Amino acid sequence: MEKKNIDWGNLGFAYVKTDKRYVSTWKDGAWDAGTLTEDATITMSECACVLQYAQTVFEGLKAYTTEDGRIVTFRPDLNAERLAQSAARLEMPVFPQDRFIDAVTQVVKANEGFVPPYGSGATLYIRPFMFGINEVIGVKPATEYQFRIFCTPVGPYFKGGAKPITLRVSDLDRAAPHGTGNIKAGLNYAMSLHTLMDAHRAGYDENMFLDPATHTKVEETGGANFLFVTKDGKVVTPKSNSILPSITRRSLVSVAKEYLGLEVEEREVLFEEVKDFAECGLCGTAAVISPVGKIVDHGNEICFPSGMEKMGPTIQKLYDTLTGIQMGRIEAPTGWIHEIK
Ligand code: PLP
Ligand code: COI
Repeated sequence: MEKKNIDWGNLGFAYVKTDKRYVSTWKDGAWDAGTLTEDATITMSECACVLQYAQTVFEGLKAYTTEDGRIVTFRPDLNAERLAQSAARLEMPVFPQDRFIDAVTQVVKANEGFVPPYGSGATLYIRPFMFGINEVIGVKPATEYQFRIFCTPVGPYFKGGAKPITLRVSDLDRAAPHGTGNIKAGLNYAMSLHTLMDAHRAGYDENMFLDPATHTKVEETGGANFLFVTKDGKVVTPKSNSILPSITRRSLVSVAKEYLGLEVEEREVLFEEVKDFAECGLCGTAAVISPVGKIVDHGNEICFPSGMEKMGPTIQKLYDTLTGIQMGRIEAPTGWIHEIK
């Protein structure tokens, strides 16, 4: 399929309407066969459960063009698994894993012209989502759902690409101590919007959220997990029940250990420790690994030795290895790469 006429190198992280999307409906206790459609709009009742009570969950993954011209996705089985966990938490039906992977494959193939070429710096972001669509006015789950997948070509999540960003510590939380921080539900992102815009108005790129119970431990940002590197080269990543179990972070932990021979600690990280780390990065599908240069806590600045100009050396190695695996330059662990074509 001929590539679309897009300025791949200048894409930001924004929606571009592509040709086809997938839709399947749950009704009377079962999913229908599912289909691709050109219709990018959704018509629903004013009283749809998703509109009134935010019953919606989603996923995010990417398709990559490899060095040898294949189109692949990265660990889509884990997105299917996490979507199932998110759905179960919000009393929604589960979309089967094999059908999830098949639907991702169909959407990418049908929009092949939008898959950015190798080396362009852009990728195809794939957004599976599910929501309660029938009318609900008393608080209860919907009985009818749509599962959809659309895709959109994207560039870097943060303007400036690999330039280190500045975070501030948020006073407001994105999650509750025994809430939904560990699933990918739209409601968590709604929770983060006010403090995100407040951070932007104050000149910061993103928020660092602390644990909602005590505000002493590092959690994550609005859209990515944290990775730190100690002065003696250990990788440290926060463990918490109220953060999203990032597929990128879990993959980077393996990459650090198995490919780079680094020591990795997955544990609670006190905010007090952050000033002693040598490097800091945000990891996620959209963020890939975005270096953090500075974190500001009510006027107190933590400036990482890696500085504001480039990634620190260990974060750079992790970035190069992960993206090398995703783009087919480095051999992947078994099962990580799902070939589309
Ligand atoms: N944390 C949050 C809140 C996110 O929205 C995301 C994005 O998916 C991540 C972490 C990173 O997760 P993943 O690496 O699976 O994309
Ligand atoms: C992702 O990395 O896939 C995300 O969902 C982060 C953000 C765009 C919500």
